[in-house]
Amino acid sequence: MAAAVELDGVNVTFGDFVAVRDANLVIEPGEFFSFLGPSGCGKTTLLRTISGFIEPTRGSVRIGGKDMKGIGPNRRPTALIFQNLALFPMMSVAENIGYGLRVRGVPRHERDEKVKNLLIQVALAEHGHKQVSELSGGQKQRVAIARALAVEPSVLLLDEPLSALDLKLRQHMRAELRAIQKRVGITFIYITHDQGEALTMSDRIAVMNAGVIEQVGNGRAVYAEPRTPFVASFVGENNGIRGRITSVANGEAVLDTPIGTLRGRNPVGLAAGQDALLFVRPEALRIGAGAGALFEGEALDVAYEGSVTHISMRVRTGQKLTVTLGGGAADALPQPGDTLQVGFEPRDGLVLAKAADA
Ligand SMILES: Nc1ncnc2c1ncn2[C@@H]1O[C@H](COP(=O)(O)OP(=O)(O)O)[C@@H](O)[C@H]1O
Ligand SMILES: [Mg+2]
Repeated sequence: MAAAVELDGVNVTFGDFVAVRDANLVIEPGEFFSFLGPSGCGKTTLLRTISGFIEPTRGSVRIGGKDMKGIGPNRRPTALIFQNLALFPMMSVAENIGYGLRVRGVPRHERDEKVKNLLIQVALAEHGHKQVSELSGGQKQRVAIARALAVEPSVLLLDEPLSALDLKLRQHMRAELRAIQKRVGITFIYITHDQGEALTMSDRIAVMNAGVIEQVGNGRAVYAEPRTPFVASFVGENNGIRGRITSVANGEAVLDTPIGTLRGRNPVGLAAGQDALLFVRPEALRIGAGAGALFEGEALDVAYEGSVTHISMRVRTGQKLTVTLGGGAADALPQPGDTLQVGFEPRDGLVLAKAADA
């Protein structure tokens, strides 16, 4: 089977500004694929390029194996859902969903049958007769999805569709969207700046920074095996400590840093003499004299949250680090002002190349 979507050296520029730089990607049929990155990194531009509202300045987009050059948005097998849904307020739920079919001249009975099935797929079977204004935010969301699915796209593109909802509903809709995607089985391409959304819903995630796809992988890979400092700091909390590599051996690197000599894994194969960053997650840091202390610092703030405690601390260079302790540590929590001995296992340290502009 042909890939659902292939990007081949896609560049999009606006004047001198490069919004998307050299995107290469293969998205498989039936995947829930997310683009994750901060506001302004080029996610919407890339989505609009896939849907045909923007032609790439360079490179090509293939959908289902077919080059899309010169093929306009309404002739592509894609449907796009925006943040503001754009439902028709004067129509019922069923009329909204059947709209695209009516425009295409699909006969009434066929249309009704299809709308009925779509209502079931988005769990709105009892709501077809209602006015859009009678629905909750989450229900409106599902109407927008059903309406987009009605014309049987092979790829559904979703541009931050949950960002207008409140937190609770947003979290509920994650599971809901994922379930709908599994039921209908088509490719979903989802864009978001929210790592929680991307991690919980996606089969794979492309992490974007300033127009560049820095890493593609499943949630576990981008969280546990980041390959760039940006991915390491954008996906989840992380502590990054600068230094210079003094030696490498057995997949590990030893880093000379202003707070001491630190050791971590060296997955990208950096060499001695290179400037680098060592990343260690807050939950991988240990405190206490018995922890194989590597450096020390001063506790600034100790936030007990029951299941975890977050400690903000400052090391000799003035840099602030975060330590997260599990609930079991509650009896022996430090106080602000305490000197902390801090250590971590080399396997929990990750040594990555310092970004060119860092
Ligand atoms: N039509 C346009 N003309 C000029 N610049 C644009 C245009 N569309 C987007 N940009 C710029 O491209 C960058 C990426 O925008 P966008 O793709 O909307 O980012 P995101 O969706 O990740 O927030 C931004 O700096 C934005 O200002
Ligand atoms: Mg956007």
